[in-house]
Amino acid sequence: MPPQPVARVYRGTPRNLARLARRLQAGELVAVPTETVYGLAANAFDAAACRKIFAAKGRPASDPLIVHIHGLRDLAAVAETNAAAAKLAAKFWPGPLTLVLRKNPAVPAVVSAGLSSVAVRMPAHPLFRRLLRLAGLPLAAPSANPFGYVSPTTAEHVRESLGKRIRHILDGGAAQIGLESTIVDLRNPRKPRLLRPGAVTHAALERALGVKVARSRRAAQFEKLAVAQVAPGLLARHYSPRAAVVLHRKIDATRPLAADEAWVFLARPAGRRGGNVFSLDPRGDLRGVARRLFATLRQCDDGRFKKIHVELAPGAGLADAVNDRLRRAAAR
Ligand code: TXA
Ligand code: MG
Repeated sequence: MPPQPVARVYRGTPRNLARLARRLQAGELVAVPTETVYGLAANAFDAAACRKIFAAKGRPASDPLIVHIHGLRDLAAVAETNAAAAKLAAKFWPGPLTLVLRKNPAVPAVVSAGLSSVAVRMPAHPLFRRLLRLAGLPLAAPSANPFGYVSPTTAEHVRESLGKRIRHILDGGAAQIGLESTIVDLRNPRKPRLLRPGAVTHAALERALGVKVARSRRAAQFEKLAVAQVAPGLLARHYSPRAAVVLHRKIDATRPLAADEAWVFLARPAGRRGGNVFSLDPRGDLRGVARRLFATLRQCDDGRFKKIHVELAPGAGLADAVNDRLRRAAAR
Protein backbone atom coordinates (compact mmCIF):
# COMPACT_ATOMS: atom_id res chain seq x y z
CA MET A 1 0.00 0.00 0.00
CA PRO A 2 1.30 3.51 -0.76
CA PRO A 3 2.16 5.57 2.32
CA GLN A 4 -0.83 7.54 3.62
CA PRO A 5 -0.46 11.26 3.12
CA VAL A 6 -0.80 13.34 6.25
CA ALA A 7 -2.38 16.70 5.70
CA ARG A 8 -0.52 19.89 6.39
CA VAL A 9 -2.53 22.87 7.63
CA TYR A 10 -1.44 26.16 6.02
CA ARG A 11 -1.96 29.67 7.30
CA GLY A 12 -3.11 32.10 4.63
CA THR A 13 0.22 33.84 4.01
CA PRO A 14 0.91 35.13 0.46
CA ARG A 15 3.60 32.52 0.05
CA ASN A 16 1.32 29.65 1.15
CA LEU A 17 -1.51 30.87 -1.08
CA ALA A 18 0.83 30.99 -4.10
CA ARG A 19 2.01 27.49 -3.32
CA LEU A 20 -1.53 26.09 -2.91
CA ALA A 21 -2.59 27.77 -6.16
CA ARG A 22 0.22 25.88 -7.92
CA ARG A 23 -0.89 22.62 -6.30
CA LEU A 24 -4.42 23.19 -7.66
CA GLN A 25 -3.05 23.97 -11.13
CA ALA A 26 -1.10 20.69 -10.94
CA GLY A 27 -4.33 18.73 -10.33
CA GLU A 28 -4.05 18.25 -6.56
CA LEU A 29 -6.77 18.67 -3.95
CA VAL A 30 -6.78 21.54 -1.43
CA ALA A 31 -9.29 21.89 1.42
CA VAL A 32 -10.42 25.51 1.55
CA PRO A 33 -12.26 27.76 3.99
CA THR A 34 -15.51 29.32 2.84
CA GLU A 35 -18.03 31.49 4.69
CA THR A 36 -20.48 28.53 4.74
CA VAL A 37 -18.46 25.36 5.44
CA TYR A 38 -14.99 24.11 4.41
CA GLY A 39 -14.76 22.73 0.88
CA LEU A 40 -12.50 20.19 -0.83
CA ALA A 41 -11.35 21.91 -4.02
CA ALA A 42 -9.92 20.84 -7.38
CA ASN A 43 -9.56 22.42 -10.83
CA ALA A 44 -13.12 22.21 -12.22
CA PHE A 45 -11.82 21.74 -15.79
CA ASP A 46 -9.65 18.76 -14.85
CA ALA A 47 -11.72 15.55 -14.76
CA ALA A 48 -8.95 13.48 -13.17
CA ALA A 49 -8.48 16.04 -10.39
CA CYS A 50 -12.23 16.11 -9.72
CA ARG A 51 -12.37 12.30 -9.56
CA LYS A 52 -9.92 12.53 -6.64
CA ILE A 53 -12.54 14.53 -4.72
CA PHE A 54 -15.06 11.69 -5.00
CA ALA A 55 -12.41 9.16 -3.95
CA ALA A 56 -11.25 11.18 -0.91
CA LYS A 57 -14.82 11.74 0.34
CA GLY A 58 -16.17 8.31 -0.54
CA ARG A 59 -18.84 10.25 -2.43
CA PRO A 60 -20.98 8.45 -5.02
CA ALA A 61 -20.31 9.61 -8.59
CA SER A 62 -24.03 10.41 -8.89
CA ASP A 63 -23.78 13.40 -6.50
CA PRO A 64 -22.64 16.50 -8.45
CA LEU A 65 -20.16 19.13 -7.22
CA ILE A 66 -20.48 22.92 -6.89
CA VAL A 67 -18.17 25.00 -9.09
CA HIS A 68 -16.75 28.10 -7.36
CA ILE A 69 -15.79 31.16 -9.38
CA HIS A 70 -13.85 34.32 -8.51
CA GLY A 71 -15.83 36.87 -10.51
CA LEU A 72 -18.86 37.24 -12.76
CA ARG A 73 -16.63 37.26 -15.82
CA ASP A 74 -15.84 33.61 -15.01
CA LEU A 75 -19.48 32.51 -15.10
CA ALA A 76 -19.78 32.10 -18.89
CA ALA A 77 -16.87 29.65 -18.91
CA VAL A 78 -18.83 27.19 -16.77
CA ALA A 79 -22.54 27.90 -17.32
CA GLU A 80 -25.17 29.52 -19.51
CA THR A 81 -26.45 32.53 -17.63
CA ASN A 82 -29.90 34.19 -17.76
CA ALA A 83 -31.71 37.26 -16.42
CA ALA A 84 -32.79 35.64 -13.16
CA ALA A 85 -29.21 34.51 -12.47
CA ALA A 86 -27.94 38.03 -13.18
CA LYS A 87 -30.42 39.44 -10.64
CA LEU A 88 -29.47 37.01 -7.89
CA ALA A 89 -25.75 37.32 -8.60
CA ALA A 90 -25.94 41.11 -8.36
CA LYS A 91 -27.76 40.89 -5.05
CA PHE A 92 -26.14 37.93 -3.26
CA TRP A 93 -22.68 37.27 -4.78
CA PRO A 94 -20.12 36.91 -3.42
CA GLY A 95 -22.01 34.95 -0.77
CA PRO A 96 -23.82 31.80 0.38
CA LEU A 97 -25.94 31.23 -2.74
CA THR A 98 -25.49 28.51 -5.39
CA LEU A 99 -27.23 28.71 -8.76
CA VAL A 100 -28.04 25.66 -10.88
CA LEU A 101 -27.78 26.62 -14.56
CA ARG A 102 -27.26 24.95 -17.92
CA LYS A 103 -23.72 23.62 -18.06
CA ASN A 104 -21.02 24.83 -20.43
CA PRO A 105 -19.68 21.74 -22.26
CA ALA A 106 -16.15 22.73 -21.14
CA VAL A 107 -17.01 21.50 -17.63
CA PRO A 108 -16.33 17.75 -17.51
CA ALA A 109 -19.24 15.37 -16.89
CA VAL A 110 -17.71 14.06 -13.65
CA VAL A 111 -18.34 17.49 -12.03
CA SER A 112 -22.07 17.51 -12.79
CA ALA A 113 -22.52 13.74 -12.37
CA GLY A 114 -23.49 13.59 -16.03
CA LEU A 115 -26.27 16.20 -15.74
CA SER A 116 -26.68 18.91 -18.37
CA SER A 117 -26.79 21.48 -15.54
CA VAL A 118 -24.07 22.74 -13.21
CA ALA A 119 -24.16 24.35 -9.75
CA VAL A 120 -22.14 27.60 -9.46
CA ARG A 121 -21.25 29.80 -6.52
CA MET A 122 -19.09 32.90 -5.99
CA PRO A 123 -17.83 32.56 -2.41
CA ALA A 124 -17.13 35.48 -0.07
CA HIS A 125 -14.33 34.18 2.16
CA PRO A 126 -11.31 36.44 1.51
CA LEU A 127 -8.69 33.66 1.57
CA PHE A 128 -10.67 31.42 -0.77
CA ARG A 129 -11.16 34.39 -3.08
CA ARG A 130 -7.43 35.07 -3.15
CA LEU A 131 -6.76 31.43 -3.91
CA LEU A 132 -9.31 31.42 -6.75
CA ARG A 133 -7.69 34.51 -8.24
CA LEU A 134 -4.15 33.13 -7.96
CA ALA A 135 -5.12 29.73 -9.38
CA GLY A 136 -6.94 31.49 -12.23
CA LEU A 137 -9.35 28.55 -12.43
CA PRO A 138 -12.89 27.75 -11.37
CA LEU A 139 -12.69 25.27 -8.49
CA ALA A 140 -15.10 22.38 -7.99
CA ALA A 141 -15.66 21.80 -4.27
CA PRO A 142 -18.16 19.86 -2.20
CA SER A 143 -18.08 20.14 1.58
CA ALA A 144 -14.81 18.69 2.94
CA ASN A 145 -16.30 15.82 4.96
CA PRO A 146 -16.50 12.08 4.39
CA PHE A 147 -19.74 11.43 2.48
CA GLY A 148 -22.78 11.50 4.78
CA TYR A 149 -21.05 13.03 7.80
CA VAL A 150 -21.53 16.50 9.31
CA SER A 151 -19.89 19.29 7.25
CA PRO A 152 -16.68 20.85 8.64
CA THR A 153 -16.65 24.43 9.87
CA THR A 154 -12.97 24.57 10.93
CA ALA A 155 -9.65 23.41 9.47
CA GLU A 156 -9.32 21.08 12.46
CA HIS A 157 -12.61 19.34 11.54
CA VAL A 158 -11.19 18.69 8.07
CA ARG A 159 -7.93 17.36 9.45
CA GLU A 160 -9.74 15.04 11.87
CA SER A 161 -11.82 13.33 9.21
CA LEU A 162 -9.85 13.65 5.94
CA GLY A 163 -6.32 14.24 7.25
CA LYS A 164 -5.09 10.87 6.05
CA ARG A 165 -6.61 11.20 2.61
CA ILE A 166 -5.53 14.68 1.53
CA ARG A 167 -2.32 16.70 1.68
CA HIS A 168 -3.30 20.36 1.91
CA ILE A 169 -5.69 22.26 4.18
CA LEU A 170 -5.90 26.05 4.10
CA ASP A 171 -6.92 27.44 7.51
CA GLY A 172 -9.28 30.41 7.28
CA GLY A 173 -10.69 30.26 10.80
CA ALA A 174 -14.17 29.15 11.84
CA ALA A 175 -16.82 29.52 9.12
CA GLN A 176 -18.92 32.67 9.61
CA ILE A 177 -22.24 31.20 8.50
CA GLY A 178 -21.75 27.55 9.40
CA LEU A 179 -24.39 26.00 7.09
CA GLU A 180 -24.01 25.08 3.42
CA SER A 181 -25.17 27.55 0.79
CA THR A 182 -28.75 28.01 -0.41
CA ILE A 183 -29.19 26.21 -3.76
CA VAL A 184 -31.65 27.53 -6.37
CA ASP A 185 -32.45 25.82 -9.65
CA LEU A 186 -32.60 28.53 -12.34
CA ARG A 187 -32.54 26.33 -15.43
CA ASN A 188 -35.95 27.81 -16.18
CA PRO A 189 -35.53 31.46 -15.07
CA ARG A 190 -39.33 31.96 -14.84
CA LYS A 191 -39.77 28.92 -12.60
CA PRO A 192 -37.05 29.11 -9.96
CA ARG A 193 -36.95 26.29 -7.44
CA LEU A 194 -35.28 26.18 -4.04
CA LEU A 195 -33.31 22.93 -3.75
CA ARG A 196 -31.57 23.50 -0.40
CA PRO A 197 -32.37 26.18 2.18
CA GLY A 198 -29.45 28.25 3.50
CA ALA A 199 -28.55 31.70 4.77
CA VAL A 200 -30.10 33.36 1.70
CA THR A 201 -33.73 32.75 2.60
CA HIS A 202 -36.72 31.77 0.48
CA ALA A 203 -38.33 35.16 1.20
CA ALA A 204 -35.17 37.02 0.16
CA LEU A 205 -35.06 35.07 -3.12
CA GLU A 206 -38.70 35.88 -3.92
CA ARG A 207 -38.12 39.57 -3.15
CA ALA A 208 -35.03 39.70 -5.37
CA LEU A 209 -36.63 37.84 -8.28
CA GLY A 210 -40.14 39.27 -8.04
CA VAL A 211 -41.68 35.83 -8.74
CA LYS A 212 -42.75 32.86 -6.64
CA VAL A 213 -39.95 30.45 -5.84
CA ALA A 214 -41.08 26.82 -5.64
CA ARG A 215 -39.58 24.54 -3.03
CA SER A 216 -38.39 21.09 -3.89
CA ARG A 217 -40.69 18.41 -2.55
CA ARG A 218 -38.04 17.56 -0.01
CA ALA A 219 -37.76 21.18 1.20
CA ALA A 220 -41.55 21.38 1.51
CA GLN A 221 -41.60 18.11 3.39
CA PHE A 222 -38.96 19.37 5.83
CA GLU A 223 -40.98 22.46 6.44
CA LYS A 224 -44.21 20.60 7.08
CA LEU A 225 -42.39 18.41 9.54
CA ALA A 226 -41.01 21.45 11.33
CA VAL A 227 -44.52 22.26 12.50
CA ALA A 228 -45.92 18.74 12.65
CA GLN A 229 -44.56 15.69 14.32
CA VAL A 230 -40.98 14.71 13.84
CA ALA A 231 -40.87 11.55 11.78
CA PRO A 232 -37.39 10.12 11.47
CA GLY A 233 -37.03 7.50 8.78
CA LEU A 234 -38.95 9.49 6.17
CA LEU A 235 -35.91 11.33 4.96
CA ALA A 236 -32.60 10.49 3.42
CA ARG A 237 -29.93 10.17 6.08
CA HIS A 238 -27.33 12.87 5.58
CA TYR A 239 -25.13 15.15 7.64
CA SER A 240 -25.46 12.56 10.36
CA PRO A 241 -23.47 12.08 13.52
CA ARG A 242 -22.87 8.46 14.54
CA ALA A 243 -24.99 8.92 17.65
CA ALA A 244 -28.78 9.00 17.23
CA VAL A 245 -30.16 12.54 16.95
CA VAL A 246 -33.53 13.17 18.64
CA LEU A 247 -35.36 16.38 17.78
CA HIS A 248 -37.55 18.42 20.13
CA ARG A 249 -39.79 21.40 19.62
CA LYS A 250 -38.48 22.53 23.02
CA ILE A 251 -36.52 20.72 25.74
CA ASP A 252 -37.90 21.29 29.23
CA ALA A 253 -34.73 22.23 31.12
CA THR A 254 -36.47 21.93 34.49
CA ARG A 255 -36.93 18.17 34.06
CA PRO A 256 -34.22 15.61 34.81
CA LEU A 257 -31.99 15.11 31.76
CA ALA A 258 -30.48 11.64 31.31
CA ALA A 259 -26.83 11.99 32.28
CA ASP A 260 -25.50 9.67 29.57
CA GLU A 261 -27.22 11.57 26.74
CA ALA A 262 -26.29 14.96 25.23
CA TRP A 263 -28.77 17.85 25.49
CA VAL A 264 -28.35 20.67 22.97
CA PHE A 265 -30.35 23.85 23.66
CA LEU A 266 -30.71 26.79 21.28
CA ALA A 267 -30.08 29.25 24.12
CA ARG A 268 -28.20 28.76 27.37
CA PRO A 269 -30.70 27.21 29.82
CA ALA A 270 -30.80 28.98 33.18
CA GLY A 271 -29.41 26.99 36.07
CA ARG A 272 -28.37 23.90 34.09
CA ARG A 273 -24.82 22.84 33.66
CA GLY A 274 -22.80 19.72 33.13
CA GLY A 275 -20.64 17.89 30.62
CA ASN A 276 -23.76 16.75 28.76
CA VAL A 277 -25.51 20.15 28.48
CA PHE A 278 -24.72 22.29 25.43
CA SER A 279 -26.10 25.53 24.06
CA LEU A 280 -25.70 26.79 20.50
CA ASP A 281 -25.82 30.50 21.27
CA PRO A 282 -25.90 32.33 24.63
CA ARG A 283 -29.21 34.00 23.76
CA GLY A 284 -30.43 31.65 21.07
CA ASP A 285 -29.64 34.16 18.32
CA LEU A 286 -30.24 32.26 15.07
CA ARG A 287 -27.06 33.34 13.37
CA GLY A 288 -25.08 32.09 16.33
CA VAL A 289 -27.11 28.87 16.32
CA ALA A 290 -26.32 28.27 12.63
CA ARG A 291 -22.65 29.09 13.11
CA ARG A 292 -22.19 26.64 16.00
CA LEU A 293 -24.54 23.83 14.97
CA PHE A 294 -22.16 21.48 13.14
CA ALA A 295 -19.25 22.01 15.56
CA THR A 296 -21.57 21.20 18.46
CA LEU A 297 -22.92 18.04 16.80
CA ARG A 298 -19.31 16.89 16.30
CA GLN A 299 -18.48 17.73 19.91
CA CYS A 300 -21.38 15.58 21.10
CA ASP A 301 -20.41 12.78 18.73
CA ASP A 302 -17.03 11.83 20.21
CA GLY A 303 -18.30 8.52 21.54
CA ARG A 304 -19.49 9.71 24.97
CA PHE A 305 -23.18 9.76 24.11
CA LYS A 306 -25.50 7.32 22.36
CA LYS A 307 -28.17 9.95 21.88
CA ILE A 308 -28.03 13.66 21.08
CA HIS A 309 -31.19 15.64 21.89
CA VAL A 310 -31.50 18.92 19.98
CA GLU A 311 -34.08 21.72 19.90
CA LEU A 312 -35.55 22.78 16.55
CA ALA A 313 -35.29 26.49 15.68
CA PRO A 314 -38.56 28.49 15.77
CA GLY A 315 -39.79 30.53 12.80
CA ALA A 316 -38.75 30.57 9.12
CA GLY A 317 -35.84 32.02 7.11
CA LEU A 318 -32.54 30.91 8.60
CA ALA A 319 -34.53 28.60 10.89
CA ASP A 320 -35.60 26.62 7.78
CA ALA A 321 -31.94 25.98 7.01
CA VAL A 322 -31.07 25.01 10.59
CA ASN A 323 -34.06 22.66 10.81
CA ASP A 324 -33.33 21.14 7.39
CA ARG A 325 -29.86 20.11 8.61
CA LEU A 326 -31.26 18.87 11.93
CA ARG A 327 -33.85 16.70 10.19
CA ARG A 328 -31.22 15.20 7.92
CA ALA A 329 -29.02 14.52 10.94
CA ALA A 330 -31.92 12.78 12.66
CA ALA A 331 -33.02 10.75 9.63
CA ARG A 332 -32.21 7.05 9.79
O1 TXA B 1 -21.85 26.08 0.96
C1 TXA B 1 -21.68 25.21 0.12
O2 TXA B 1 -22.46 25.04 -0.83
C2 TXA B 1 -20.46 24.30 0.30
C3 TXA B 1 -19.20 25.13 0.07
C4 TXA B 1 -17.95 24.30 0.03
O3 TXA B 1 -19.34 25.89 -1.10
N1 TXA B 1 -20.52 23.22 -0.62
C5 TXA B 1 -21.39 22.18 -0.47
O4 TXA B 1 -21.24 21.18 -1.41
O5 TXA B 1 -22.20 22.14 0.41
P1 TXA B 1 -21.92 19.75 -1.31
O6 TXA B 1 -21.35 18.96 -2.41
O7 TXA B 1 -21.76 19.20 0.03
O8 TXA B 1 -23.39 20.01 -1.68
C6 TXA B 1 -23.68 20.38 -2.99
C7 TXA B 1 -25.06 20.00 -3.34
C8 TXA B 1 -25.22 18.50 -3.51
O9 TXA B 1 -26.21 18.02 -2.66
C9 TXA B 1 -25.64 18.35 -4.95
O10 TXA B 1 -26.64 17.39 -5.09
C10 TXA B 1 -26.14 19.73 -5.34
O11 TXA B 1 -25.36 20.60 -4.60
N2 TXA B 1 -25.89 19.96 -6.76
C11 TXA B 1 -24.70 20.10 -7.37
N3 TXA B 1 -24.85 20.23 -8.70
C12 TXA B 1 -26.18 20.18 -8.94
C13 TXA B 1 -26.99 20.23 -10.11
N4 TXA B 1 -26.45 20.37 -11.31
N5 TXA B 1 -28.33 20.14 -9.96
C14 TXA B 1 -28.87 19.99 -8.74
N6 TXA B 1 -28.17 19.93 -7.59
C15 TXA B 1 -26.84 20.00 -7.69
MG1 MG C 1 -21.90 18.12 1.61
